[in-house]
Parts: sequence; structure tokens; C-alpha cells
Amino acid sequence: MIDRYGRNIDYLRISVTDLCNLRCIYCMPEGGVAKMRHEDILTVEEIEEITRAAAALGIEKIRLTGGEPLVRKGIVEIVRRTAAVPGIREVALTTNGSLLAGYAQDLKAAGLSRVNISIDTMDAEKYREVTRGGELADVLSGIRAATDAGLRPIKLNAVLIGGINEDFIRPLVEMTRDADFRVRFIEIMPIGECADWNRERFVSISRVLEDVPGLAYAGTDGVSKLYRLEGAKGSVGLISPISSHFCPACNKVRVTSDGKLKPCLHSPEEIPLRGLHGAALEDAMRRGILDKPLKHKLDSERKSDSRRGMSAIGG
Ligand code: GTP
Ligand code: 5AD
Ligand code: SF4
Repeated sequence: MIDRYGRNIDYLRISVTDLCNLRCIYCMPEGGVAKMRHEDILTVEEIEEITRAAAALGIEKIRLTGGEPLVRKGIVEIVRRTAAVPGIREVALTTNGSLLAGYAQDLKAAGLSRVNISIDTMDAEKYREVTRGGELADVLSGIRAATDAGLRPIKLNAVLIGGINEDFIRPLVEMTRDADFRVRFIEIMPIGECADWNRERFVSISRVLEDVPGLAYAGTDGVSKLYRLEGAKGSVGLISPISSHFCPACNKVRVTSDGKLKPCLHSPEEIPLRGLHGAALEDAMRRGILDKPLKHKLDSERKSDSRRGMSAIGG
């Protein structure tokens, strides 16, 4: 569906849980977030219903996120039901990868197309620090399992954190040499847990090009600018929500784990969808998409206007 500003909105991100088994320093407080009540979380049936309404409005691509979507009971069934909705051409998943080894085959069989995996460093000790206790080896087995299951192409997301992981850019870029991994560096956005962080933590993605001069420009893919090492099988994507925001080309809306439509990641506006069915559900979603804000007002000085952090939105 075309919004008020002429953008074709064909991509819906659905957060299936606000819970996560990790505690990344930029996303979650050390003790975790206050748990939503079980009955406040969208049911499998509601997720399917929302997907049907979205498809009727021209949504073709669904991305399941969290928190961590693989801690949600019934995630395989959610994939099966959303992938079966007529008009939905792709169901993808964004995950921290730590539980993926046990799920990859079942997800593929249920109709999942591909996965994006968060991996902020290739150094096991640093990984433990950034995720507050995660094991890099688990993610690496998740990546192998996803490759074996054919959940390709695999995108690897690394959020750049000044003073924490900027020394580990090169090893991530090296992942693209021998296999078709799409490594993407993301500028950290001041939202939720990291909204009040010092400016030094906000590193521009231009840092990647300074550190790895061998990267040659190779076009764009959605919100990322693509680069490639000479002869490499994979690519490097740079996502710059802060230094050059891409709102004019935005094609997505989001639904939170408790069933609110969020037309823009950084706007406070939320449209409750729970309890709505059929034409009423479609109407509410149509209104939200049509009135999607033109752009966010975010920069390294000004934080997000979103009412909630990333763990309840899912990126
Ligand atoms: P593809 O379908 O593979 O293109 O995935 P994706 O980039 O849409 O999804 P992913 O979950 O991998 O998102 C990567 C990150 O990019 C997000 O978590 C955000 O940090 C950033 N990002 C993606 N979309 C937006 C957006 O609309 N606005 C802003 N500001 N940042 C976004
Ligand atoms: N800024 C940018 N990206 C973030 N993510 C989580 N929090 C932030 C933030 N504040 C990323 C995760 C994951 C994706 C879904 O969102 O690392 O790759
Ligand atoms: Fe969990 Fe992803 Fe947040 Fe890390 S960024 S705490 S993996 S939801």
C-alpha cells in the first residue's frame, strides 16, 4: 500500500516476544526488562490474523523479531502460519543466533526463507562482555546450521559501539571472503537502554571504510549501502540511521509483541490492534500505514521519541 508520502509499504516486522536469553548492553538492562503478562502477548492466532490483514493491504514480506524470537514458544508454528498466508512472499527472522542450531531445520521446513543474525564481534571474550554472558561458539554453530538448512542468504548484523567493539570490524569483514555472508554494520540508535549514552559510543559507519580500505562500493540493498572486498563471495553493508537517515525510502511498519502497530520506529505513535478483527483490523492498519510519519528526528544529540526500547520492538 502507498502511504501519504508515496512510499510503497510492503514489509511488516512482527515482534513475537519482548523476552531474550541475552542482555546486550545497548538493548537490555542487566536484570532484564519487566516481563509482560502472558495474556498481553499476541497469540499465534492473532499473529496470523494480523498477517492476513497486512497481506490484504499489500504487505508481501514478514520479518519475525523479538526480543529473541526463538525463546517464544510456538515460533515454528508462527512461521508455518504466516508463511501460508496468501500474498506473503517471504517470511524472515532476526535472531541473536544462540539457539538457532536447534531450530534451523524445523524453521526451514515450516517455510522460513532466511535469517539475519546479530553478532557484534568475532572475539569470544568481547562477545561475552557485549551480550553480558553469551557464548560466541553457540552463534557460530547457529550460523553453520542455518547455512546447512538453506536459510540463505544469511545477513550478519553488527552494531558499532564506540570504545567496545570498533577494534573488531576487520574479523567480521573477513567472514565475507570465502562464503556469501552479508555482514552489515549498523550505527547505534539512541533508543531505550542506550538513549542516554555518551556521544563517544556513537560511531559513524564511515569508520568501517577507514579501517578496511579494500572495500569497494557495490550498490544498495534496502537500507544498506553495499561494499565488497575484491574477489570476496559475500558483501559488507553499512546501515546509517544516524549519519544519513533513510526514511524517505522506508518501506516498513512494525507490530509490537503486545499488539500495537508502530508506523515508525522512532515515533511515540502506537495503534492498538488487539480485539480488532476483519474489516476493523484492516481499517486500523490502513490508517496507520497511510499516516506513517515522513521521517524521524533522531541524531546523535537527540534521542528517539519511541515509548519503548528495542527489546519490545525488535529493531
Ligand atoms: P532485510 O530484510 O534483510 O533487509 O532486513 P532488515 O535490515 O530490514 O532487518 P534487520 O532485523 O536485520 O535490521 C537491521 C537493523 O537495521 C535494525 O535493527 C535497525 O537497527 C536498522 N533498521 C532497519 N530498519 C530500520 C528503519 O526503518 N529505521 C531505522 N532507523 N533503522 C532501521
Ligand atoms: N541501535 C541500532 N541497532 C540496534 N539493535 C538493537 N538495538 C539497537 C540500537 N539501539 C539491533 C540488534 C539486531 C537488530 C534487530 O537491531 O543488534 O541486529
Ligand atoms: Fe537480545 Fe537482540 Fe536485545 Fe541483544 S539486541 S539483548 S540479542 S534482543
